[in-house]
Amino acid sequence: MVFDLDMIKKVYERYPERIAAARKVVGKPLTLSEKILYAHLWDGNATTEYERGKSYVDFAPDRVAMQDATAQMALLQFMQAGKTKVAVPSTAHADHLIQAKIGADKDLQDALNKSSEVFNFLSSVCNKYGIGFWKPGAGIIHQVVLENYAFPGGMMIGTDSHTVNAGGLGMVAVGVGGADAVDVMAGMAWELKMPKLIGVKLTGKLNGWTAPKDVILKVAGILTVKGGTGAIVEYFGEGAEAMSCTGKGTICNMGAEIGATTSTFGYDDSMRRYLNATGRAEVVALADQVAEHLTGDAEVYANPEKYFDQVIEINLSELTPHLNGPFTPDLATPVAEFREKAIANDWPLDIEWALIGSCTNSSYEDLSRAASIVEDAVSKGVKPKAILGINPGSEQVRYTAERDGFIDTFKKFESARIFTNACGPCIGQWDREGAEKQEKNSIVHSFNRNFAKRADGNPNTHAFVASPEMVAAIAIAGRLDFNPITDTLTNQNGEQVKLNEPTGFELPPKGFDVDDNGYQAPAEDGSGIVVDVKPDSERLQLLEEFPAWDGKNITGAKLLIKAFGKCTTDHISMAGPWLRYRGHLDNISNNMLIGAVNAFGGATNEVVNQLTGAKGEVPATARAYKAAGIPSIVVGDQNYGEGSSREHAAMEPRHLGVKAVIVKSFARIHETNLKKQGMLGLTFANEADYDKIKEDDTFNFIDLVDFAPGKQLTLEIVHADGSKETIKLNHTYNHQQIEWFKAGSALNLIKLQNQ
Ligand code: F3S
Repeated sequence: MVFDLDMIKKVYERYPERIAAARKVVGKPLTLSEKILYAHLWDGNATTEYERGKSYVDFAPDRVAMQDATAQMALLQFMQAGKTKVAVPSTAHADHLIQAKIGADKDLQDALNKSSEVFNFLSSVCNKYGIGFWKPGAGIIHQVVLENYAFPGGMMIGTDSHTVNAGGLGMVAVGVGGADAVDVMAGMAWELKMPKLIGVKLTGKLNGWTAPKDVILKVAGILTVKGGTGAIVEYFGEGAEAMSCTGKGTICNMGAEIGATTSTFGYDDSMRRYLNATGRAEVVALADQVAEHLTGDAEVYANPEKYFDQVIEINLSELTPHLNGPFTPDLATPVAEFREKAIANDWPLDIEWALIGSCTNSSYEDLSRAASIVEDAVSKGVKPKAILGINPGSEQVRYTAERDGFIDTFKKFESARIFTNACGPCIGQWDREGAEKQEKNSIVHSFNRNFAKRADGNPNTHAFVASPEMVAAIAIAGRLDFNPITDTLTNQNGEQVKLNEPTGFELPPKGFDVDDNGYQAPAEDGSGIVVDVKPDSERLQLLEEFPAWDGKNITGAKLLIKAFGKCTTDHISMAGPWLRYRGHLDNISNNMLIGAVNAFGGATNEVVNQLTGAKGEVPATARAYKAAGIPSIVVGDQNYGEGSSREHAAMEPRHLGVKAVIVKSFARIHETNLKKQGMLGLTFANEADYDKIKEDDTFNFIDLVDFAPGKQLTLEIVHADGSKETIKLNHTYNHQQIEWFKAGSALNLIKLQNQ
């Protein structure tokens, strides 16, 4: 048993009391989302109603999950917290660092050769601190979580945006940055703005070629990539209950593509079946005792308009297969209308590759339904025109699918390739032959994201998202505009044949099976385990404590860069090739702000070094100030730090000696990340003061020694000609956050408190 039954038991034990308290303060029937949120308040029973979209609330998540690319920095930070064990059950999953090229065995070996240092680090740090580790090849984080850890009514955070997948099993599961995961693993609260609620009523029943994927492709078309922002999407209705649990996971998974905080479904029979099939009958027994609390109140679902901020209704009986794309997941087109639209937009119709997998669609049901299409085509003498690539979601799914003959079915297509149970092409880990030529082409896949360059690095690859069964059908036809409901194919004898509708199994009729699931349980007592990080490693670096504030005003600080316009976390800490250094703060700091536009001259990664007068790269200039013992300051525009929640964007400036980031406005998560790393994240009291900042300015804080909640700070700007101006700066630090600043970082403070 890899899941923590005691923890689940405790969560359910407190449900009745917590829900009763929530009913009292909210004073009306409750949605499922509200029940889960109010049942997980950090302070216990609710004493006040929180305003949706406004109130910031402290929660106590039940679990943490991390994937290998983000876990490195999260765990390096956790090691700084002075804890001997994580405070909540946590897991790390090696799934992002495995490239798809030839096939599972060779690719996995290649990844082990290239990244064993990172895998060994993750394995040892997990072992030491009580974290479950899923080894390379064990599967994709969200499939593994659904199969082993997700439980109805639970709350989880994960360092990956598709953590939301666990909503398929009735959780509120949210993707966060590593810093949030570290807080929760260290025993602190997790803060979230009380989400708004979008209700999606599903009537009717899926049939024929239509799959759960088409529900979310349709929803994405309605809500667009921003429509779910700050909201939980709650699905309900007879259509929801008639759908498999993994199908629900697919829908929740792609909630990330509409910007939703998360998505969820009420506890039902499909979840019972899935929990039982995945060896968790004990969880079913516990959940059944509080079943009424694990779904929304009947009145809420009867009159959703009264209780949700927005309601959408979809009749599944009328829903048809969709293809979404290219370049954005919300460009939804019913398959029947695709040909006309593709021709009008000059999208390439022929495809060379069709891919099934990713955390979105790699379940047993998905593989069985796709295999039924392949089997049908083979029996009718049709050969595939495109290469079909498959990444099973987990070793358990792969092993069972192989036992039940589906893998052999795929292999009946000579060109099929079975890749590792890992993310692979979904995260650009795909060595696609010829991609470097950057030719205009189309691919179809069952993944979630289809941004330019994401799968193969070629900006001219038009990627379309569809259900696994549609991907299989398109692979066979070799054309995107193939509509299996109406179109025929020519077989080897020159006859016109039609593909049968997909059939499959929600769950394996003979049960799941696996030889080695790839799980490493942590040591009972990890105190003797040494986490091995080589001093000369270029990929991993143990963190050193950031120094505490010396209690004095910061003076003589030089302007490092005044960023103009959009400055997202990608501009501050680029991804792509820099992914390699996610576990090495000093090396990854060489990408600090290299994408930011310098307000003086408009160049990127070029600023004046005030010590020499010469122009230099941003990271090198920051290092020069740091080496000279001179603090530096970054100035930014509106919504500075929007985008991902990666903490590297705050840790890098901290590491390179930047003391304060002063902007017109912040993206909230980045602002919090700066605070956590012991930085000053400040805003101009008067936005127009941004214009007062000159390229060769020096700054003195006048009253930092009186740093207090709600009190403005005063900054003296000394221009190169000796003239001075004084401006006011706002901040949002509370008492606790000021303590973080004083201690040097939130982790330093935790460590101090532990001593
Ligand atoms: Fe992996 Fe792609 Fe999901 S990168 S976690 S399979 S979105």
